[in-house]
Amino acid sequence: MDYVEQRVAQAASNPDPSTTALLTPLNLLLLSVLLYAAYTLLLRPTAPPVLPKEPPAILFRTFTPRTLLPYNGENGAPVYLAARGRVFDVTRGRNFYGPGGPYANFAGRDASRGLACGSFDEEMLTKDLDGPLDTLSDLGPGEMEALKGWEERFEEKYMVVGKLVAVGEEGDGN
Ligand code: HEM
Repeated sequence: MDYVEQRVAQAASNPDPSTTALLTPLNLLLLSVLLYAAYTLLLRPTAPPVLPKEPPAILFRTFTPRTLLPYNGENGAPVYLAARGRVFDVTRGRNFYGPGGPYANFAGRDASRGLACGSFDEEMLTKDLDGPLDTLSDLGPGEMEALKGWEERFEEKYMVVGKLVAVGEEGDGN
């Protein structure tokens, strides 16, 4: 038996006391905790990330004063209003425009003239829902400025969801 074989045989019959001293129950426990942590942190397959749900697609629609009318916030309906041909979804401002709100008169309506003149009077709103749109041609520059100011505010706060046209001018028919 050469020297190496002698050493191997010796080691097998007489394990190194320093190795056996490491195999205490506590160390085994720590080792298993370590292995488990390594497995969970590095190796365990992770669930695919859950992507946030997409908001519902906004369709740009063509409204007439009549088809805009139902969007007045009643019975949980969205609230839309129009200003110079653009329809804004003002549902976020339900407190302003929803039923019982201070500006509920504008809900589902062409609010252009009322906003321009700072008036809630009934005659500010298009009476004939199937007639021509209000051209606002009689308004002065100050009133038009006031209206544009409101539009700028709406652009910051709300989405444009469509355009307002007179009955018969729907074009592509949607
Ligand atoms: C006594 C007069 C009025 C008072 C005290 C008043 C008060 C207010 C207040 C406190 C707000 C909320 C501002 C905010 O938190 O963003 C507001 C917003 C508004 N007001 Fe008036 N207001 C008056 C007259 C008018 C008039 C005459 C009009 C137009 C006809 C008008 C149209 C609006 C609109 C469109 C909003 C914006 C709501 C939004 O952000 O969607 N208000 N008003």
